[in-house]
Amino acid sequence: MPRVTYIDGAYRAYADALVPFEDRGYQFADGVYEVILVRRGRLIDDAPHLERLLRSLRELDMPAPCALPVLGQIVRETLRRNRVEDGLVYIQVSRGVAPRDHVFPKAAKPMLVVTAKRRTWPAADATPKGVSALTVLDERWARCDIKSIGLLPNVLAKEKARQAGAAEAILVSADGVVHEGGSSNVWIVDRNGVLRTHPLGPRILGGVTRATVKTLAEQAQLRLVEEPFRLEDLYEAREAFVTSATSFVKPIVSVDGRRIGDGEVGPVARRLFGDYNAYSLAA
Ligand code: PDD
Repeated sequence: MPRVTYIDGAYRAYADALVPFEDRGYQFADGVYEVILVRRGRLIDDAPHLERLLRSLRELDMPAPCALPVLGQIVRETLRRNRVEDGLVYIQVSRGVAPRDHVFPKAAKPMLVVTAKRRTWPAADATPKGVSALTVLDERWARCDIKSIGLLPNVLAKEKARQAGAAEAILVSADGVVHEGGSSNVWIVDRNGVLRTHPLGPRILGGVTRATVKTLAEQAQLRLVEEPFRLEDLYEAREAFVTSATSFVKPIVSVDGRRIGDGEVGPVARRLFGDYNAYSLAA
């Protein structure tokens, strides 16, 4: 399988796709990224992903590496060169290469890197499997709405979950509010049957899958509120699941070793998994 990376203006073989050590992404995590799902050769929700990338750049006063249509072309060409039909695209933009100094460099060109890799996604008739999660104190900064490459707290939380045999970390504030997953958004079906997820704002990333699943939930006429909920609400929920471009709708059947609902995948998660799977196959 060819492995080609778009890096700093050119398509290069993986082994030659190198970033100078003075890239500010490397030294300061001064960069942003996106991960886009690819199914049957099509990018799923690419427009909102690219919009969010531009927003992240704007929020950090970072210039865009190129115009949006050009970025779209680079992404599609990277997919083509890697012959990815099913997989994902990773896009990263850093503030560029400059002698190490915390303040913004006067003249640095943003460094754009685009990679694509193959992955197998669930079949059209797949049913979702439930996984377990571990709650971890949310120790991130106060701008989690920016998709920054500074992911150390997420890395530590997800590693802690992995060591406990859990598939995802659920990040909870010191006063007990459930924010989101280590690399996903968190949803519950509460004891009244209402779907709940944390509202948009600086405490969570506004997931593109979250937005699509919200639309699918509305189409399914499910009751939905975007309101903060607490750890106790999660423990007592009928159902819980996480969403992201790479995990679709993933049911959580146990949290911190406690069963959620009856410990099986519930009807709402099953329905939304099916709807999202169909949506991403039809896109
Ligand atoms: N992560 N919250 C966080 C902290 C995330 O890192 C992600 C995605 C999401 C879900 O966003 P979306 O639905 O747009 O994928 C929420 C990607 C997949 C990653 O870091 O690999």
